[in-house]
Formats: sequence, C-alpha cells, structure tokens
Amino acid sequence: MKAVILAGGSGTRLYPVTQVLNKHLLPVYNKPMIYYPFSLSMLLKIREVLFIVNEEDLGAFKSLFKDGSHIGMNIQYKVQKKPNGLAEGLIIAEEFLNGDDVFYLLGDNIFFGHDLISILTQAKKDVELNNGAYVFGYYVSDPERFGIVEFDESGKVLSIEEKPKKPKSSYAVVGMYFYDSEATKIAKTVKPSHRGELEITSVNEEYLNRGKLKVKQLGRGFAWFDAGTHDSFLDAGEFVATIEKKTGLMIGCIEEIAYSNGWITKEELLRLAEPLKKTGYGKYLIKLAREEI
Ligand code: DAU
Repeated sequence: MKAVILAGGSGTRLYPVTQVLNKHLLPVYNKPMIYYPFSLSMLLKIREVLFIVNEEDLGAFKSLFKDGSHIGMNIQYKVQKKPNGLAEGLIIAEEFLNGDDVFYLLGDNIFFGHDLISILTQAKKDVELNNGAYVFGYYVSDPERFGIVEFDESGKVLSIEEKPKKPKSSYAVVGMYFYDSEATKIAKTVKPSHRGELEITSVNEEYLNRGKLKVKQLGRGFAWFDAGTHDSFLDAGEFVATIEKKTGLMIGCIEEIAYSNGWITKEELLRLAEPLKKTGYGKYLIKLAREEI
C-alpha cells in the first residue's frame, strides 16, 4: 500500500490567512499542519508517499520534505492545477499508485486517540486482504459540513451523502480513507457535484453500491479536527499544545517516528535536531537521542 496526501485546494475558509500562504504549512502549535496526516502514514509504515499540491506551493513542500530519505521515506509530488475536488487526487495519483492500494489522507485533518494506529493497521490489512474501501465515521455537532454516513440498527451502512442540508445522521466521514486498486477507475467515472467538485463521497458511494464499503465508528475516545476553518484550526492547535504539555510527548513528530521505526540512526536524529536546537522541538529530538524520553 502507498499513501497519497491531498494538500492543494483553495483554503478560502481560512482567508485572509491563506490568501498568500498555504494552509497545510501553517503551524498547528509547534509544527506544520501537514506533519499530522503525514505522520499517520509513517506510523502505518507506509514509506511511499505522494503529496498533491498547488503549483505555487510545490517549491515550499519540496524544501520542507525533500525526497524524504532523511526520515526514511520516499516522497514524490504532483500538482493539482485547480481545486476540482478530492476525488481528482485519485486520478492524479494513478501513475504513482501503479495498481497498488492506497491510504488516502486529507492534509488538513488531524487525529489523536488511544489505539488509533492499531485500528488503522487493521483497516489497512482488511483492504489488502479483502479489497474494497474502509472509511471512518465520527459523531459531530455540525453534520452539514461533512460527508455523512447513515447506519441501520445493526450498523449496516444505508447511505452516504456530501454536506447534506438535512443530514440523516450525525456521523461525519473523516478525511482518511483506505481504497483498493479500483479507486482511480471509480474516480474517473465521478461527475462534478452541484458545487462543481469531484466528490470523494461519490467514490465512497460507488464502493457502497458494490457492497464493498466498510465504515468503522471512531468513538468518544478520539479527537478529530478538520483544521480548515478559523475555529477548528485554533481548536486543533490548543488541543495539541494541551496534550503535549501534559504528557511531555509529541504528536506528529516525524523525526521521532523515523527514529522509533528504526529508519534513522541516533546520529542522524541528532543531525536533524541541530538546526532546531533553540526550539522545544529540537530539544525534544535531542532528549530522544539521549534516551531521556
Ligand atoms: O474533513 C473531512 C471532510 O473533507 C469530509 O467529511 C468530506 O466528505 C470531504 O468532502 C471533505 O470536505 P471539506 O469540505 O472539508 O474538504 P476541503 O475542501 O476542506 O478539502 C479537504 C482537503 O483537501 C484540504 O486539505 C484541501 C485539499 N483539497 C481540496 C480540494 C477541493 C485539495 O487538495 N484539492 C481539492 O481539489
């Protein structure tokens, strides 16, 4: 399985902040927003990642992540010319995926929770063994803002709709999806929605029609932020700050994950920490290398 991370789009819901700055590179507390979804791919040990970005931001992404080898990853980049919708990313990624399964992530989604990685690992294995799609539902107070999934009493999925005016449930489909190799083919058949976008919900709906969509509910023990509005962006930053200060452990620290996965040595970790050593982030990496954490 490979990972694809969507980090294009217009970011209009964060204007004026994102009029000249890319949303995904803004700091969520002490690191760029994009580190959080990217770190999930690392935690699942998916080392081949494609970033889909806007043309004008390609340089910034490349100077931040390079080819990924410094953290044991293999990173590639593709440009999305216009924000034509989330399903277009699966088409843009066709060559990169080359028939492989995909862990598809939205660059502005941030997750935290006990057992998250074992739940995701289980979903990854399921798609690798049984094909189909695997997505996650999360109970929200503002379901009009999201893709919404409706269940019957036995937990069977009945419908899935994008930003419904009258939501049939309060379960939002969060921005991380596992798909088999059919995803690109399906995305190519999607027609633009009334808001002119190729919706990821249409891809999920097609999997549902084929009887190949699995949805797992993430319970109250999980935190999920779609950091795409002023309030949710602030909430995400405050959440990360609270947890990190309380525990002394970082969320989404990519150098730490590379080190604990055994992809970089202690010396390499210290080299990565060197230019950051005046910050809490750099000091954290140094402590890790000295086994003080
Ligand atoms: O956050 C979860 C929700 O994300 C889902 O519940 C919805 O079903 C899904 O459509 C999506 O809704 P949003 O309206 O929140 O998507 P947004 O336009 O904010 O884009 C999500 C990410 O994808 C964001 O990081 C920008 C990026 N993007 C977006 C579009 C439309 C692209 O890279 N290219 C695009 O064309």
